[in-house]
Amino acid sequence: MPFYQRLGDVPRKRHIQFRENGTLLTEEVMGLEGFTGNESILYHLQSPCRVMKLDGFEPIERKEWVPDQHAHRHFHTKEIDAAGDEVTGRRLLMWNNDVEISLCRPKDSMDYFFRNGEGDEVIFVHEGSGVLETVFGDVPYKEGDYVVVPRGTTYRFQPEASPQRYLVFETPGLIEIPRRYRNQYGQIMEGAPYYHRDIHPPTELKTVREQGEFPVKVRVRGGYQTYLLDYHPFDVVGWDGYLYPWTFSIHDFEPITGRIHQPPPSHQTFAGQNFVICSFCPRKLDFDPDAVPIPYHHSNLQSEEMIYYVSGNFGSRKGVEVGSITLHPSGLPHGPQPGLAEKSIGTHETHELAVMCDTFNPLKLTDFAKKLDDGTYWRSWYENASQPADATDDASGAGLTSHL
Ligand SMILES: [Fe+2]
Repeated sequence: MPFYQRLGDVPRKRHIQFRENGTLLTEEVMGLEGFTGNESILYHLQSPCRVMKLDGFEPIERKEWVPDQHAHRHFHTKEIDAAGDEVTGRRLLMWNNDVEISLCRPKDSMDYFFRNGEGDEVIFVHEGSGVLETVFGDVPYKEGDYVVVPRGTTYRFQPEASPQRYLVFETPGLIEIPRRYRNQYGQIMEGAPYYHRDIHPPTELKTVREQGEFPVKVRVRGGYQTYLLDYHPFDVVGWDGYLYPWTFSIHDFEPITGRIHQPPPSHQTFAGQNFVICSFCPRKLDFDPDAVPIPYHHSNLQSEEMIYYVSGNFGSRKGVEVGSITLHPSGLPHGPQPGLAEKSIGTHETHELAVMCDTFNPLKLTDFAKKLDDGTYWRSWYENASQPADATDDASGAGLTSHL
């Protein structure tokens, strides 16, 4: 999606004969929005339609938790058990019609291939590294990467470093680079918090010429349909286009700072369908002599704010630890806990790392979320009124939570 790419061999023009050892290869146009959106053209050794056997269909079942009261929530996720693989191990925490947000701490390896047939995916790698093997080629990933996988991409995780811990977003819409970061030609402009060089497409195409039995699990129509192929699905000899998986490291996000507080859109990393994903990265804080370097209280009247704390010292935010997720739902104001605004004055920088997802429609919660909910976060603005938030241990502000 970010720019034109080509790997392997492709013919001199689209839709002309392309042969290997005299055999006509199968050309597949994989495109969005009919034939008008971004697309890639792949050249297969076999027809990608060729299915040996239709296997089972597993519907996706969600167990919704409808809390008795509407309140701010804090979920502790650090100690969740490892379970499943990089796909079956995704445990849904919250969702709406635009996005599903899951935690994944896999322990098994994938003995099948996966394709999301009804949504784009962003997989934030909190812990772990490896290679996402895809029909477009290998996509190496490491801690701190967002792995962006467009719908239709057949893939399999090959992790190298353990443990693995992922925050996964799945959406029926598209994951895009925010429009305001790009000029009319699509190039990322000066002033945007990242550039094309920060975006890493597949590095190497490995054409697999192998026959056997290869299960491919496809998410489609609200479930997983498994197909059995008699050839390896990575049989592509070449492809080109704008549609392919890629990575972007949160550590390559260049924070935008100001003399006074910059609003969350300055941290936007991706645009989704009625939601945004933002990266809060270590940075200098507001430098006006009279600045209050943490956010003002705010009521996001039309959005919900989910923040995943990745690393850093959160001493200024009581109870928050690595792996914490806070959810500030619509209809309620939120802001610094008592005493924190005063205490933040004079701090110069923050060292924390966090991923935020703001949705423009309400989020539903799952039974899994209920198990992780601390049940007391909503009281933190009340209980702390007489006991100011902890001072940061580091005068530089390293322990400051810079967003709320
Ligand atoms: Fe907020």
